[in-house]
Amino acid sequence: MEAAMDYKRFIEDQIAYIKKTVGQGKAINALSGGVDSSAVTVLAHRAIGDQLKTVFVDNSLMREGEPERVVRIFAEMGITVELVDAREEFLSALKGLTDPEAKRRAVTDTFYSNIFSRIVKESNAQFLFQGTILTDIEETMAGIKRQHNILAQLGIDPEKSYGYSVLEPLKTLRKDDVREVSKLLSLPAEITERIPFPGPALATRIVGEVTPERLEIVQAATAIVEEELADSGAFQYLAVLLSDRATGIRNNKREFGQIIVVRCVESVDARTATATELSWDKLERLCERITQIKGVNHCLYDLTPKPPATIEYI
Ligand code: XMP
Repeated sequence: MEAAMDYKRFIEDQIAYIKKTVGQGKAINALSGGVDSSAVTVLAHRAIGDQLKTVFVDNSLMREGEPERVVRIFAEMGITVELVDAREEFLSALKGLTDPEAKRRAVTDTFYSNIFSRIVKESNAQFLFQGTILTDIEETMAGIKRQHNILAQLGIDPEKSYGYSVLEPLKTLRKDDVREVSKLLSLPAEITERIPFPGPALATRIVGEVTPERLEIVQAATAIVEEELADSGAFQYLAVLLSDRATGIRNNKREFGQIIVVRCVESVDARTATATELSWDKLERLCERITQIKGVNHCLYDLTPKPPATIEYI
C-alpha cells in the first residue's frame, strides 16, 4: 500500500522550489476559479508574493457574478487578481457558430491565441504557472485530452524565445490530493468542494448559437439549479438551453418559448454517470422556478446515463 501523502511537506517543498526557480524574476498565471488553478495561485503567491501577476479572464460564459466572486475570494486571502474584460472578444468569436466542436475551438483559441498570449507577452514575465495535474498528463498521453503544450498554444516558440519557462507545481497530484492541498492552503470550501465546471463554460450548455440573450437565460437557470441542488450530494448538476422551442401558454396567450433541460448526475470520475434519483417535489420545484424565467415555458429532467449521453450537451 502506498504511504499517505504528506501534504504539508508537499506545500513546503513546492514553495521552496518556486522561490529558488523564480528568484527575482516575474511570473504570471491565469486563474479560472477551479480548484487546480486556485491552488497554484495560492502556492505561487506564498512563494513569490507580488512577483506573481494573476489574471482572471472574463469570457462572458461564466456563471452569474462568477468573476467578481473569484476576485473577492482571493482579495480576502490578500491576493490581487486582475480582472480582464474579454467578453466582447469571446462573444464575437462565437457569433454565428452552432457546431459543437467549432464553438469549443472558438473559446479555446480566443483564450490562448488572442487574450492570454497578449497578456503574457505584455507582462514581461519569464515564468508561467499552470495548474496541470497528473490526470491531465495521463489523459493527454492516452489521447483522451488534447496535448496542451501551453507555450505552443500561446504562439510562443520555446526554441526561439528563451524568455519563458512553464512551472506546473501540481503535476504529481490527483484531484483529491489537490483538494487536500487546497484546504491546507486555506482556500474556502466554495473553491475546494466545487462541482466540476468545464473550461468552455456555459458554451457547453447552450445548444446552438451563443448570444448574450441566450447566455442570460442559461445563467438564470444555472443559478436556480445550483441553489436547489446544492445539498443533493450529486457529482454534478447543471442547466442546458436547447435550440428547439415549444409552444406554451402564459397570461392566456400562446408563446413559442425556450426549453431548459436540468441534468444532475452521480459519478466517480466523470467517465460514466447515472442520473440522480431526485424527489418528485424537488423536480416540481425546479420546474416551477425555471419556467418563471422570462421566455422559458418548458423544463425537462434528463434521465440518460453516460454513455450513451455525455454529461455536458456539446
Ligand atoms: P462530458 O460532457 O464529456 O464531461 O461527459 C465529463 C466531465 O468533464 C467536464 N468537461 C470539461 N472540463 N474542459 C474541462 O475542463 C472541457 O472542455 C470539458 N468538457 C467537459 C464536464 O463538466 C464533466 O464533469
